[in-house]
Amino acid sequence: MATKVAIVTGGNKGIGLAIVRALCKQFQGDVYLTARDIGRGQEAVKSLASEGLKPMFHQLDINDLNSIMAAASYFKEKYGGVDVLVNNAGIAFKVADESPFAVQAEVTLKTNFFATRDMLTHFLPIIKAGGRVVNISSFVGVRTLNHCSPALQQRFRSEDITEDELVGLMEQFVDKTNVGEHKAAGWPETAYGVSKTGLTTLSMILARRLSKDRPNDGILLNACCPGWVRTDMAGPKATKSPDEGAVTPVYLALLPPGATEPHGKFVSDKEVQQW
Ligand SMILES: NC(=O)c1ccc[n+]([C@@H]2O[C@H](COP(=O)([O-])OP(=O)(O)OC[C@H]3O[C@@H](n4cnc5c(N)ncnc54)[C@H](OP(=O)(O)O)[C@@H]3O)[C@@H](O)[C@H]2O)c1
Repeated sequence: MATKVAIVTGGNKGIGLAIVRALCKQFQGDVYLTARDIGRGQEAVKSLASEGLKPMFHQLDINDLNSIMAAASYFKEKYGGVDVLVNNAGIAFKVADESPFAVQAEVTLKTNFFATRDMLTHFLPIIKAGGRVVNISSFVGVRTLNHCSPALQQRFRSEDITEDELVGLMEQFVDKTNVGEHKAAGWPETAYGVSKTGLTTLSMILARRLSKDRPNDGILLNACCPGWVRTDMAGPKATKSPDEGAVTPVYLALLPPGATEPHGKFVSDKEVQQW
């Protein structure tokens, strides 16, 4: 049987590194720690090796389409596709950051929404039957959804929203921040929150598409929240350790063969949450 393969983006630190650690212990196959910076990635591989674990490494900057396409070709060629993909890479401006809101909106959505979407565009076609796809979103995306205008909430929650419509809404948010009109257009004042509302909605759209286009392949795709986790992003006051933050993402990545749910859901603490 072909060797199975799992890939984690942004695997060099924080929750991504903890997900790689847990997969090395629990996944029957090759586990790839990927990172945009080769040096930081290889340091992280070394740190796991010192724990007796054996992750493999591939460079992957999700903001660089060439890097995404090179990685997708590599996994297609070497493994015939991918069994588990965890889209963990993400960014957040610090609260104290004084960059203009429009800049924060553009930069945050570029990585957390548009680049993660690029990953999904290029990797979903090579996800193997029985594959698992996990997008690390956030409870902040749910809170943000609840602070959107009723019209926006209706679209994000609807079953008929298309990927194109969602992309248009995310672009609209960024455009409106440029002219200071995002609040008037029904958006709350959080770039990170909107990026994660978008990512969770995208996960639901793509899961519905997988069910329609590949009904017999048993692929499960979900968005999740790791919880509030002590990392460079969230700081030392957060309640969970990175290993605790990895629990729900890893649960979704390792849903057993033949499982039919959850699929197209937002999951936190291993439970499907209301959207
Ligand atoms: N911490 C929390 O409480 C919390 C709560 C909810 C959701 N999340 C989500 O969990 C995920 C991981 O967050 P974290 O707390 O572990 O943050 P972190 O410690 O800041 O780690 C973020 C990781 O993403 C990588 N990354 C950023 N941009 C990238 C790109 N363009 N290509 C590839 N990798 C990139 C970073 O790489 P570099 O080292 O090269 O920058 C780093 O490895 C994020 O999606 C975050 O939004 C976190």
